[in-house]
Amino acid sequence: MSRPLSVGLIGLGTVGSQVAERMLSWGPQLSRRAGVELCLKKVLVRDVNKRRPLNVAHELLTDEPAELLDDPSIEVVIEVAGGDEPMRSYIQLAIEAGKHVITANKVVMARHGPELLDLAAERNVDVYFEAAVGGGIPLISTFRVDLQANRIERVSAVINGTTNYVLGRMASAGLTMPDAVREAQEAGYAEADPTDDVAGFDATYKLAILASIAYEIKVRPDDIYREGIDGVEPVDFRYARELGYAIKLVAHTQRHTGRVEARVHPAMVPVDHPLARVEGPENAVFVEGDLVGQVLLVGQGAGGRPTASAVVGDLIDLARSIRRGVQSRPSFSFDDRIGVVPIGEVKTRAYFRLRVEDRAGVVAAIGQVFAEEGVSISSFIQKDAWSHDQTAELVVTTHPALDASLQRAREKMSALEPVRAVSSFLRVF
Ligand code: NAP
Ligand code: HSE
Repeated sequence: MSRPLSVGLIGLGTVGSQVAERMLSWGPQLSRRAGVELCLKKVLVRDVNKRRPLNVAHELLTDEPAELLDDPSIEVVIEVAGGDEPMRSYIQLAIEAGKHVITANKVVMARHGPELLDLAAERNVDVYFEAAVGGGIPLISTFRVDLQANRIERVSAVINGTTNYVLGRMASAGLTMPDAVREAQEAGYAEADPTDDVAGFDATYKLAILASIAYEIKVRPDDIYREGIDGVEPVDFRYARELGYAIKLVAHTQRHTGRVEARVHPAMVPVDHPLARVEGPENAVFVEGDLVGQVLLVGQGAGGRPTASAVVGDLIDLARSIRRGVQSRPSFSFDDRIGVVPIGEVKTRAYFRLRVEDRAGVVAAIGQVFAEEGVSISSFIQKDAWSHDQTAELVVTTHPALDASLQRAREKMSALEPVRAVSSFLRVF
């Protein structure tokens, strides 16, 4: 074997401690697979004196970025700290210094990925980011290599483990959203700020990365329509079951002529759809390519160990190509002339839950609103009136309609005098 490959690690939290643990405890096996000894040379953290579950030699730790980024012997930087700045700058500095980078940082890759990949190609180094989407599921490598012969038509995914765990616990154990979020945090699935998960930002970053590499265009997180799960109420799970659906935070993109559709929102998913069966912190990505047909990739999308599996897998692949003296993978050319379809122009089915006064003519008035907007009703449920205030709950599902028409119908119904509230609106997948 040749001289060891020195690695600098940024971050020693949920993911970083599992990366370090695997490198330190499984060194010979990893080195045999990589064809070179892998040496963890420095670990950058915020606080070198913090008590940590993993026993890392104190001299490996530093809180000084230059000790890692300016060390010419470090050839590979693994960034598992998270957030935009300063991590984007650290990655850029590493690339400019001729270091290869492996990152689990979806924020940086979604916002700045195309520029960083271009810079890396210029400097003849690699940027790996398998762990940025789907935790331990081999997704990026699948798109980058195995699906390269395809024109990707659509990608539908459950790609946020925290919200999937939360929605699952609300559905099965009747937990409130805050309690379920707390459980997900304790299990290490949630982002440092769980709003990123609950409000759909995390899934949006991941969809931006997937859509960009699937279509080789620049899809920015801000281009993607986003809604979080905070509007989903316990009663919606009861209606979902009655109607034959599960409620999931779905990330969806599909090709249109000259444009792409890209959206993240909670949705009613038919129970026989593969995405409906994804449980807990699992993620699933359903891809359709013109040559391969449909492919389903499923696995643990969050948690330290599955994510470390992707990070260390990238390290081994990178080490092999460094030793062979090749740049391992072709960089992408990202076309920025193709735009994203505005949500109003997307066609979708919908579920409405309304609280209405229980009297003659109310259903007719609601039917009239849907008729005016050209929205066809698919099913209708009315539950018994609440005796204390003489209101009833109505649930309406629709056939596919333009999202703009569905939103106008929602506004018009809210303004009807006997409608107390449009309590819930979910798209049906
Ligand atoms: P985490 O538990 O919060 O750990 C973050 C680590 O980064 C800590 O060790 C922290 O140092 C260090 N750090 C933060 N800011 C720093 C700075 N400015 N300078 C130096 N060190 C800094 O985070 P995590 O859950 O492991 O996530 C890490 C990355 O992996 C994120 O990009 C996340 O999105 C991604 N990811 C996470 C998961 C998951 O399930 N957790 C799954 C896939 C991808 P201290 O320890 O000193 O505070
Ligand atoms: N917070 C993320 C999730 C971690 O819940 O899926 C994986 O990126």
